[in-house]
Order: sequence, then C-alpha cells, then structure tokens
Amino acid sequence: MTSPDVAETLGSAPASAPVRAAPLVEFRAVTKVYGQGAAAMRALDGVDLSIQAGEFVAVMGPSGSGKSTAMNILGCLDTPSSGSYRFQGVPVEGLSRDQRALLRRNYLGFVFQGFNLLNRTSALENVELPLVYRRTPRAERHAQARRALAQVGLTGWEHHTPGELSGGQQQRVAIARAIVTGPSLLLADEPTGNLDSARSHEIMDLLTGLNRERGITVLMVTHEPDMAAYAGRVIHFLDGRVADDGLAGRSQGQGGQT
Ligand SMILES: Nc1ncnc2c1ncn2[C@@H]1O[C@H](COP(=O)(O)OP(=O)(O)OP(=O)(O)O)[C@@H](O)[C@H]1O
Ligand SMILES: [Mg+2]
Repeated sequence: MTSPDVAETLGSAPASAPVRAAPLVEFRAVTKVYGQGAAAMRALDGVDLSIQAGEFVAVMGPSGSGKSTAMNILGCLDTPSSGSYRFQGVPVEGLSRDQRALLRRNYLGFVFQGFNLLNRTSALENVELPLVYRRTPRAERHAQARRALAQVGLTGWEHHTPGELSGGQQQRVAIARAIVTGPSLLLADEPTGNLDSARSHEIMDLLTGLNRERGITVLMVTHEPDMAAYAGRVIHFLDGRVADDGLAGRSQGQGGQT
C-alpha cells in the first residue's frame, strides 16, 4: 500500500480524504534553525513524530520549546531546515509550491489562538474564505459555510461580524472556517488560550466531536493539562525535542527508524 491518494490528488483533481497504511503525518529527524552563525536558534532539534489518522493529540511544553514551529511545518506554512515531513507517506519537501498549496487547501485546517478572523466581515463570509480560494461556486459556498457554522453551534449568527460575537463564538467561527473544506487534519495552536474555563471546555467538546464523529485527526497545542486531558495522546516538547510521547499502553508502529 504505497500509492497514497494524496499523491493522486496533488497530481489531479481533489479527492475525498483517503485512509492508507502510512501515518497521516510523520516527522523524521526534523530540524528548524532560525538565523545564522552565532545568532542561530535551533527551534526544532531532530524531531521524530508519527500520527495516525483518527488520533486526537495534544502537544504541550514550555514557551519556546518549538510547538508552534512544529505546527507551522505540519501546516505547510514553514519548511524544515533538514529532515523529512511526510503526509500520508508523501515527502512534502519534494512537492512544488502549487502542490503544497493544494495539500493545504484540501487536507489541512488551522485554528490559531488569536482567531485571525476578518473584522468587518460576517461569520458566513469568514467561513467561506477557504472556499473562495478553491473557487467553489457561490451558492455551494454559502451552503457549505452554513453547514460548517451549524456544526459549531452558530446557526442564526451567520451575519454577525466578529466584533458582535463573544470570544468563544469567534473561536467557533475560526473552527468552522478550518473544517469547511473537510480537512483530514485539524491543527489548533492554543485554541483555548484566550477563553475562560467554561468556554474552553465547550471548544474542547466541539473538537472531540469533530474527531469522533467526523473522523478528523486533531493536533492541538495547549498549556493547560485540563484541555490536554481530552486528547488520547500527549506529546511533550522540550528544547526543540520530543521529551515524552504519551504512547504508553498502545500498540503503535515504531516511530524512530534510525
Ligand atoms: N520566525 C522566527 N525567527 C526567529 N526565531 C524564531 C522564529 N519563530 C520561532 N523562533 C524561535 O524558535 C523557538 C521556538 O519557538 P516556538 O514559537 O515554536 O515556541 P512555542 O513552543 O510555540 O512557544 P509558546 O508556548 O510561547 O507559543 C523560540 O526560541 C523562538 O524564539
Ligand atoms: Mg507557540
């Protein structure tokens, strides 16, 4: 089983999300160095990581330990300095810019701590944005965005702008925008960082539902043990390395092959 559908997708028309034997995402000895010479900063220092389709994983670790750097590489927003990132077995570093953009649009969804919504734009239009990039026809775009908003419990709020929504609601809009394209992998960098405890638990329930009911693989950075407790696995970063990978008791494939 070594002809991942993602390869077909990147070569031709987008297909629905495939499930194959390869891990959904895999890092092999990934490093990321920012700056040069004496000022060089090793944000990631040889990270091996393997995540299977369907997992719900929390990433924890002190500030500066490389969590966001890893998320940005997973999200194809950044590239490793060395090592390999494989998506369904396909080495991402071997893809062209256009192919990488396709991978991002068809398989990945992002949720950031700061919501990153367009301020003067309605919830519906914010959620439609990824579909605009995909050139989805207008009527279909509206329908899909409404569906995504319904999935996050925001039916009736479609025409409100972010300023007219609470923090929790804004985060729901951001999640709707991330899932409107039907991604295989949802990357969330501190999705509850700006929310109070009650709102945070609601967001976690939502992410859990997306994972269990829609089969979306979720990878979430958090500083809060309460939130990490929702995940089936917790990976701890320290100084740009994986210090602990909560695979205890699982019959997982061997991660490090070197
Ligand atoms: N664009 C950049 N240029 C230079 N250094 C960077 C850049 N991005 C990150 N770094 C450095 O890389 C290291 C890891 O940063 P990263 O943002 O991945 O940490 P983090 O674990 O997400 O921390 P936090 O919990 O504070 O969000 C830090 O020392 C940071 O200063
Ligand atoms: Mg960070």
